[in-house]
Amino acid sequence: MCGIIGYIGKRQAQPILLGCLAKLEYRGYDSCGIALAGSSLNIHKDAVRVGELAKAAPQLEGTVGIGHTRWATHGEPSQTNAHPHCDCTAKIAVVHNGIINNYQSLRQQLTSEGHKFASETDTEVISHLIEKYYQGDLEKAVETALRDVEGSYAIIVLMAGEPKLVVARKDSPLIIGIGDRENFIASDVPAILDFTNRVVYLEDGDVGVITTDSMKIKRNGTEVTREKHKILWSAEQAQKGGYEHFMLKEIHEQPKVIRDTLVGWVPVNGVVTDFALMRDIGVESILILGCGTSYHAALVGKYIVEELVGIPVRAELASEFNYYGQIPPRTRTIVITQSGETADILIAMRRSREAGGKVIAITNVVGSTVSRIADQTIYTRAGPEISVAATKSFMAQIMVLYWLMMSYSKVDAKRLADMLLGLRQMPSKVQQVLDNEGKILECAKYLSNFENVFFIGRGINFPIALEGALKLKEISYIHAEGYAAGELKHGPFALLSGDTPVIAIVAQDNTREAMLTNIKEIKSRGAPLIVLAGEGDEAVEELADSVIRVPRIDAIYSPVINTVALQLLAYYTAKHRGCPIDFPRNLAKSVTVE
Ligand code: AGP
Repeated sequence: MCGIIGYIGKRQAQPILLGCLAKLEYRGYDSCGIALAGSSLNIHKDAVRVGELAKAAPQLEGTVGIGHTRWATHGEPSQTNAHPHCDCTAKIAVVHNGIINNYQSLRQQLTSEGHKFASETDTEVISHLIEKYYQGDLEKAVETALRDVEGSYAIIVLMAGEPKLVVARKDSPLIIGIGDRENFIASDVPAILDFTNRVVYLEDGDVGVITTDSMKIKRNGTEVTREKHKILWSAEQAQKGGYEHFMLKEIHEQPKVIRDTLVGWVPVNGVVTDFALMRDIGVESILILGCGTSYHAALVGKYIVEELVGIPVRAELASEFNYYGQIPPRTRTIVITQSGETADILIAMRRSREAGGKVIAITNVVGSTVSRIADQTIYTRAGPEISVAATKSFMAQIMVLYWLMMSYSKVDAKRLADMLLGLRQMPSKVQQVLDNEGKILECAKYLSNFENVFFIGRGINFPIALEGALKLKEISYIHAEGYAAGELKHGPFALLSGDTPVIAIVAQDNTREAMLTNIKEIKSRGAPLIVLAGEGDEAVEELADSVIRVPRIDAIYSPVINTVALQLLAYYTAKHRGCPIDFPRNLAKSVTVE
């Protein structure tokens, strides 16, 4: 995915575009560029981060412009492949997020008609198509060009001598931020929060013409009105707020995120808010889908459903499900996605809908594509998550799952009351983990010297072992694998040595004894052992090389506190290794390609 920005108004566009692009870097950061229009186009782009581009850029005059930060798909990161992309006359510039599936045939056709291409990107065909169809009306040319295009796009088109921006979207997000005699276009809300909190979400098939003080949106040639929304996120929420990295800030926000996410759902009188779609009496099984960290939330959800609801439940990777997964009748599908834009999730949702099933979406981004497809959307209240590594959004997702399944659960009143009490205590338990990071710091320093690490867990903490490994590998570049503890002896034991630390999660539930046995097996094979265990579990002391203590908690909630400890462990390990924590190499915040 990439980040795109457009500005039209009364101010100089260059600093605004560059500032907004810096806020969009989590969407891609291998190259970037801007274009400003007066009587001619001025473009500055390179295969560098936005900060470097800003330093090197000459002062470009103009109050209308576009910008792009790229996550390469077609063509390596280079100055030539960086956006904006122009037509042959160098009068039309385009920034694009998405994939043009038929770009090769379009390119061949356009080349045979005399168009000369400068880059290897799919995007460049759009500029040339607009040039081909332009007959004095830019909007019309864009509309006609897009009829030839197959794939996904959010585009902003700028033309020399034209005081307007033409925008269009299909399967890629695009918003218009409304200012005072100025307008902003962006792929995501955090980019423009410094300027406005009033936005319009474009819908698939929309083509719009944006000027300083007007906005005209058409669909299939007919003018449409799109609702204006007030964004509740503040500009401060999308800033580091004194923390060295967004990831650390977002880890520390988790007590508040838990409180915010539960507010309104878990009233003080103990009645759990009902949720109609889950209560549908026809539902006989549940399918939970996600990718990456959101898949790990789905797996935690599976254990929660098994314990609280007791109906058949599957948790699947959306990317796999899309190729083989069957949806039995009377199945309720739940998709989990922080961004609400992940391509594999969107495909899975469409499949579920086609099979006749209803879909509940759990997402953090209001107005995201999933919320438009889902039958019902539950918004997590994590606030903007900027770091590529998902932390607080995962926490909010599993909070929603606890609440949702409690509302559907058939457990007795006493158990429900205990669970509600546990939920209310969660923020302070998480705070305790955050306040006691001394041992985690020590273990992180130690871990930073290794290249291979195993994480093991059992039961509801098996997904947390997967999540701990994912967090460590993506930000520290240490090879880490999460395993169900009982599986190590079925192969991975061959890799255990003094150079392969194992991090074992010991929960205070029916898996504890088996886990202690696994730990002994690992110990006898000489692997360094770090154990994550509840306060007062003394048995682990003599087995482990290091013990990270977490507060005691109802076992069903143990994923919450264990996750926080493992997030901190990954963060500090990556910091010791000097890694670019918020922007790990080759990764982007949401993955809008299959
Ligand atoms: C994890 O830290 C990653 N950011 C990644 O695995 C992420 O969870 C995955 O790409 C799914 O994204 P989504 O929640 O926006 O769908």
